[in-house]
This record gives sequence, C-alpha cells and structure tokens, in this order.
Amino acid sequence: MALQALGYVGIGSADLEKWAGYATQFLGMQRVDKSRTTLALRMDDRKQRVIVTADGGAASFYGWEAGDAAALDALGGRLERAGIKVARGSRALADERHVKDLIVFTDPIGNRLEAFHGAEIASEPFRPGRSISGFRTGPLGMGHAVLTVERLDDVIPFYRDVLGFGLSDYILKPFKAYFLHVNPRHHSLAFLETGKNGIHHMMVELFSLDDVGQAYDIALMEPEKIGATLGRHTNDYMTSFYSWSPSGFMVEYGWGGRLVEPGSWTAEEYTTGPSLWGHERAWLSEDKRAQARAMRTQLAADGVRAPVQVLAGNHDLMPGTCPWWDAAVAPRKAG
Ligand SMILES: [Fe+2]
Repeated sequence: MALQALGYVGIGSADLEKWAGYATQFLGMQRVDKSRTTLALRMDDRKQRVIVTADGGAASFYGWEAGDAAALDALGGRLERAGIKVARGSRALADERHVKDLIVFTDPIGNRLEAFHGAEIASEPFRPGRSISGFRTGPLGMGHAVLTVERLDDVIPFYRDVLGFGLSDYILKPFKAYFLHVNPRHHSLAFLETGKNGIHHMMVELFSLDDVGQAYDIALMEPEKIGATLGRHTNDYMTSFYSWSPSGFMVEYGWGGRLVEPGSWTAEEYTTGPSLWGHERAWLSEDKRAQARAMRTQLAADGVRAPVQVLAGNHDLMPGTCPWWDAAVAPRKAG
C-alpha cells in the first residue's frame, strides 16, 4: 500500500482563537504555534498534526503519509498515469508542513490532498492542553476523516484503485457510507453519501475511556454543541461522542477502536446500522433518526454485543469468568 496513514489535517476557520480553545481545553491537543493566519496543534511526538488556517473552507487539505521518498515518487507516477495532475510541493511548503517532501493533487471532487514522507519529530515531549492519557496515533495515523459526497461513485474508484485504500465495510441504511483503511485502523477515511461534498467529521482516539468520559462532561456544559451523544459503533467498535468544532464540522472523540488486517480483510455490507447503542445524531433528519433508533432497539433486543478492545496495561482482568483460574491463581496473587 503506497499510503500508510493519515498524517495531518488542514482546517479552515474564521476564528483561530475559538479553535485554539476548543483544541486545547476540550480535545487536549497542544498549541505550538499561532500567527494571525495560522494555528498549529500537536497530538503526539510530531511537530504538528492539525493546522488551522484563517482562510479557506472547513477542510483545507488532508496529508497522507508515504513510507519514504521512493514510495512517494511511485505514488506520483501512478497518479500521473491515471491522468491526475500532480505538483511537487515547494521547499517552503515542506518546511511549513514539517516534512521532508510532499506532492499535492486533488481528488475527483476537488479535495486538496497532500502525500508526504519524513514528518519531523519535536524535541520537546507532547504537553496536552488538558490532562489526558494521550492520543492513539503512531502507525495508525492521527485518526480518521469522514467526508460527505454527492455520489459515492465519484470518489470510491479513485481512492481504492488509484490511491490503494482497502475497503473495510459499508452500510446502505440509514445512510450510505463506505469505510476505507490504509493500515490496521479500521478506517482512516470514510465517505457518506449525503448529496453534498464536504467534511462530516474528523476522529481522534484516546488511550483511555475516561478521557472520553471527562470530555463528555465538558461537552454537557454546552449540550447544543454535541453532534451525536455517547455511543458505540458497530463496525470499528469505537466508543465515542461527536461535538461541533468552530469550523462547522464535527470532531469524534473516541476510545477502543478495533484493528483490521490489511490484505486479508474481507469487506462486507453490514446491515445492523452504524451504532450498537447511543450516537443519537442531531444532524440526521427526524425520519432517519427514527430509523437509526429502530435499528439500535433491534440490536439491543437481539442482545448484540462486541468485545471491548483494550491496550496492554490499561485493564485489569476481573475474577469470576473462570472458576479454575479464580481458585488456583487468584489466591496466590493475592497472597
Ligand atoms: Fe467516525
């Protein structure tokens, strides 16, 4: 796969100060740089992951990471052979993005894409804007972006066949959505067919469920800013909620996403709806919301559950599941 991860995202906003507050005090990102026209934010050891610019639309660009210079060149060649115009990013642009090199092109509906390699690592450790355990990034990338499209057919062939994204799964009800991966993160990109091209949400994943719960408490102080209530997704198992960012699209704040195995994963339609429970979506029409609620009610009645996805070190195994273990091992541990 030519692309390895969603490396960075560029966002437009008329109000940088509002974005700085939202990103640091609520999401827990670190503000590293702010001028009159730009705001840069850190999420981990990289110099920047989110760039907010005072001009431009809600989403200005998506930075996709290639493994090295050779992979980036190969991707450029493949795009050109597919008839896509590719521009080499200038030295000044590479410096601005804190990467070694990049190419710039657009997808078939005009989204600005950048592919890069060699992201710069900061010398200072990441200092979150509020107390959080940290963002789950690394080889999984910074999270995922979900875009809205007029027609799925306009974009899916390009992302799958030219850029090499793998299809994770898709749903057709209560809305049409396709989920794509470039690494074990269940999806780094997804498209919803809403009849309009734009950005729907961006997801960042936390190491701890409590980070998400504590953010939910903050969000509840201004409930009108909640775009979808706390809930759990059926496909990537993410427990999350959505809030409205100052740019008018949502940010999904999640924990416990599942991994897929690129290459051997088989994509299927899932018909159970997008959420196991919760995720009451303020942005859906009344009839679609009722349809989504009916699907969740059915899942609950059927007793559908999914295993919790935990990281080593952030869970304790409870006794009571295996009588042999409880009798033989637990007393020894306690003693
Ligand atoms: Fe999402």
